[in-house]
Amino acid sequence: MAQINIESPSRLLPPQPARWPIIGHMNYLTSGEMYKTFLNLHRELGDIFYLNVLNKREVIVVRSPQALQHVLQMNNKNYIKGEELDVVRPLIGQGLFTSEGDYWRRQRRMMQPAFHRKQIALLAQVMIDTTAEMLERWGTLARSGQPVKIQSEMMALTMEIVTRTLFTNSLERDEIDAMSDNIGLLLSIITHRGERIIDPLSKFRFQEKKAFDDGIAKADQLVYRLIEERRKSGIRQDDLLDMLLHAEDADTGEKMNDRQIRDEVITMFLAGHETTAIGLSWALAQLSNHPDIWSKVKSEVDEVLGGRMPEASHFTQLKYTQAVFQESLRLYPPLPLTGRTALEDDVIHGYRIPAGSQVLVNFYAAHHNPAVWINPGSFEPDRFLPENMIDRPRYAYVPFGGGPRQCIGNNFALMEGTMALAMIAQKFDVTLLPDVPLTPNAIGTLRPLSTLPAKLTVRMEMANLVN
Ligand code: HEM
Repeated sequence: MAQINIESPSRLLPPQPARWPIIGHMNYLTSGEMYKTFLNLHRELGDIFYLNVLNKREVIVVRSPQALQHVLQMNNKNYIKGEELDVVRPLIGQGLFTSEGDYWRRQRRMMQPAFHRKQIALLAQVMIDTTAEMLERWGTLARSGQPVKIQSEMMALTMEIVTRTLFTNSLERDEIDAMSDNIGLLLSIITHRGERIIDPLSKFRFQEKKAFDDGIAKADQLVYRLIEERRKSGIRQDDLLDMLLHAEDADTGEKMNDRQIRDEVITMFLAGHETTAIGLSWALAQLSNHPDIWSKVKSEVDEVLGGRMPEASHFTQLKYTQAVFQESLRLYPPLPLTGRTALEDDVIHGYRIPAGSQVLVNFYAAHHNPAVWINPGSFEPDRFLPENMIDRPRYAYVPFGGGPRQCIGNNFALMEGTMALAMIAQKFDVTLLPDVPLTPNAIGTLRPLSTLPAKLTVRMEMANLVN
C-alpha cells in the first residue's frame, strides 16, 4: 500500500464529485442508499472525499486504516460526537453512546469492569439459556414444517438476552414484549428523522412528535420502576442493573443517580440488541447460501460440544464459528458508518479538514477496501482464522469502531453471536426459502431488507442433549 502522509500541512480540501449550484452535493446524502453511493465515490475519488451541502455543511468521508486510526484514536480529542447524534439524544440523554468529555470518561470508567471478558463469561449462561428456549420453540415449528422469519427471530432473541442481562427476571413476558415494541417504534422514528438531513417541516410533524414523546414516557416509566424496585429490595443480582446501581467513581466514590442509570439502561437496549441481531441474521443467510461453510461450522460444533449444551468455556474453541460471525460483521457491518465533528482544523491524507466539518468514518467502505481485502464482496470466514490475520492493519476491520469510543459491548456481542450460531448449527439446518434477496436496507443500520424466511430441519432433538 502506498505510504500516506497524514501529518503534512495542506490547504487543499479532499477531492469532491461534481457539485450542483446551491444544493451542492445534497443528492449524495439523500440518495437513500448511502453505503453504496459512498462506496462508488471512494472508487472514483480514493480514500477520502469531500461533500458540501447548501454551501454551509461540510462533510468528509474516510475509509483507509490510517485515516480511521487518526480520527478514532490518535487525534480522537479533535473529533467529538456532535450534532449528528442530536436525533438520538432526546431518547438516550447522556448515555455512554452520546456523552462527551469528562462526563463520558467517568461513566466509561465506572462501567468498563462489567464488560471485561471474565464478566461476560458470567453473562454467557443467560445467552445460552435464552437461545435454548428459542430452539425449543423452533423444534415445534420445524416439525410442523412452518418457515421462520430469521430476522424477527434474531431481533427477539437479542432483545430477550439484553433484557435478562440487564434485569435478570424482573420483567414479565408481556412487559418484555411491550418494551421491545416500544424500542422498535422509537428506533424507527429516529431512523426516519436521521434520513431527513434538512427538514423544514420538522416542527409540524405533530403525530410523529407525539408518538416519540409517548414512547419515551413509557420507557421511562418502566425503567424508573425497575430501578426503584431493585433499590428497595436491597437484593444483589448478577446483572447489569446491579452493576449500574453499585458502580463507584474511583476518585470520588460517587454513584450514579436514577437519571444516569436510566440513560445507560436505554443506551444498552438501543446499542446492544439490533446490532447483534443484524450480525446473526446475515451470518445465517450466508451460511444457508454456502453449504460448504455450514458443514465446517457443524463439524466444529459437533467436535467441540460433542452433543452437550455449550458453556462459556467453549467459546475459545469455537474458532471457526466465531470467524463466521466476524466475517458477517465485515461484509455487513451493522453500523455502516459513524460521524464526528472536527473541533479544530486538521490534516488527513494531506488534505485540510476544516474545523466544524463532519467527518464520516466509513466502516462499510473500510471493510470493502480492495487495498486491504482480496475479493472484499465474498463471504470467506477463513480471513478471521488467527494465521490469516497477522499482517492486517488494526483499523482495517472495525465493526465495533476503535480508540477510546470503541464499542463497550464487543466481547458481549462476540460471545452472544458465536454461542447462538453454534447452538443453532448443533440442532438445525437453516435453509432460506428460494429467491430471498440478500440486499441490505439502505438507511440507518445495515439490516437485511428481507425478513429472511427460512425452512428449519432438525439435526438433533433438544431432548437428546447431554447437560
Ligand atoms: C455486533 C454487535 C455490535 C456492533 C456491530 C456494535 C457497534 C458499535 C460501534 C461501531 C460503536 C462505536 C460508535 C462510534 O464510534 O461512534 C459502538 C459503541 C457502543 N456500543 Fe456497540 N455494537 C454491538 C453490540 C453492542 C452491545 C451488545 C452493547 C451492550 C450490551 C453495545 C453497547 C455500546 C455502547 C454503550 C457504545 C458506546 C461506547 C462509548 O462511546 O463509550 N454494543 N458499538
